[in-house]
Amino acid sequence: MSTLYESVGGMPFFESLVERFYAEVEHNAGLRALYPSDLTASRDSLALFLAQYFGGPTTYSDVKGHPRLRMRHAHLPIDVAARDGWYDAMVSALDQVDLDSEARVVMRDYFDRSATWMINV
Ligand code: HEM
Repeated sequence: MSTLYESVGGMPFFESLVERFYAEVEHNAGLRALYPSDLTASRDSLALFLAQYFGGPTTYSDVKGHPRLRMRHAHLPIDVAARDGWYDAMVSALDQVDLDSEARVVMRDYFDRSATWMINV
C-alpha cells in the first residue's frame, strides 16, 4: 500500500511545503518572534518530521529520537492565538502546493488537531 509520503511526491513536496509555511510565518510578527532568527534548522526539522509522520524515511527519529512534540514545545508559550497563527500559516502553505483533495483533507485535519494539542498556556 502506498503512503501519503509517496503519493504527494516524497521529500521535495515536504521541503516545498515547509518553505512556504515559514514564508507565511514571516507575515505574523507574534508567531515569528517565537522562532530563532535563523530558520535553517527549523526548516530541516519540520520537513523531516512531517515526511516521517506521513510514512516516509525515519531520518527525523534516527537523528533526534522519539518526536515527543508536545514536550519539545513545552518551553514555548503557545496560546490560542499562536496556535491559530501556526495553523493558518500551514493552511496557506497547503493552498500553495500541488496536492489532491484527499491528501489535502488528511493533512489539514492532522494539522488542526496537532496544533490544538500544542497549546500549553
Ligand atoms: C501550535 C503552534 C505551534 C507553534 C507556535 C510552534 C512553534 C515552534 C517553535 C518556536 C519551534 C522551535 C524552533 C525550531 O526548532 O524550529 C518549533 C519546533 C518544532 N515544531 Fe512547532 N510549533 C507549533 C506547532 C507545531 C505542530 C502542530 C507541529 C507538527 C505537526 C510542529 C512541529 C515542530 C517540529 C518538528 C519542531 C522541531 C523540533 C525539534 O526537532 O527540535 N509544531 N515549533
